[in-house]
Amino acid sequence: MKGIILAGGAGSRMYPISQLYSKQLTLIYDKPLIYYPLSILMLGGIKDILIISNQETIPFYKKLFGDGKHLGLNIEYVLQSAPNGIAESFILGDKFIGNDDVTLILGDNIFYGKLDFFQRALERKTGATVFGYRVTDPERYGIVEFDENGKAISIEEKPAKPKSDFAVPGLYVYDNKVVEISKNLKPSPRGELEITDVNVEYMKRGELNVEKISRGVAWLDTGTPESLLQASNFFGAIEDRQGLKVACLEEISLHMHFIDIEQFENVITNMPKCAYREYLAKILHDRKNR
Ligand code: G1P
Repeated sequence: MKGIILAGGAGSRMYPISQLYSKQLTLIYDKPLIYYPLSILMLGGIKDILIISNQETIPFYKKLFGDGKHLGLNIEYVLQSAPNGIAESFILGDKFIGNDDVTLILGDNIFYGKLDFFQRALERKTGATVFGYRVTDPERYGIVEFDENGKAISIEEKPAKPKSDFAVPGLYVYDNKVVEISKNLKPSPRGELEITDVNVEYMKRGELNVEKISRGVAWLDTGTPESLLQASNFFGAIEDRQGLKVACLEEISLHMHFIDIEQFENVITNMPKCAYREYLAKILHDRKNR
């Protein structure tokens, strides 16, 4: 399974900072936003990761993550020269995906809680899996409608009259057919290759699984300054209470056995003295003394 993070976009809602780089670099409490979706791919056991972004932001991601080796990952980068839509990811990522299955996560989507819904999707061998999450503002999202048996019967992108309150979050698990499906898409009226059209095509073929995500999981939106602040407060509260970090990539690498203790120690040694380093040193200490 390959993983793609789409982390570019025009970012007009985040002007003026969007003149410098895309919003996935803004801080959510104590780390850049992109750490959170990357952590989800890693917790799914995905080590081959492609970051797709714009000209301005790719150099920053390269500086942050390099080739990913220190995290036990293989990270590659591809340019999306204009915001041509989410589904363009699979065309730009064609070579990277090769003959594999692929999970796409949007760089501004944050999930927090038990990830069993994602695990189940990763275990499926064919077709596509997307998710449904109850929201109060369905007109802002891709919306999935279910029949009385819980079977998904329609998906619409940002409908003026939503048929349900279930939004489709920016986490999608596909088999390899997604590449061919994306290449045959026509741009929507807003000029984008829509991820919803990919999902509708899987639905037509009878190969779309839609899983509801339970209320115990947080799916946070980070599309606006208000929602970024909410997300920061949310994770600040949890981290402060538990003394544990959310989406700490180095810790997750160790936990997932992507790196061993020795590599983990090296990562710490190469870090400047800071609270983040102290946290990792504490994780190391606890690990050695358990
Ligand atoms: C995109 C998708 C939409 C999905 C949303 C999740 O919307 O088009 O179907 O529900 O991401 O974040 P956008 O963020 O591009 O408006």
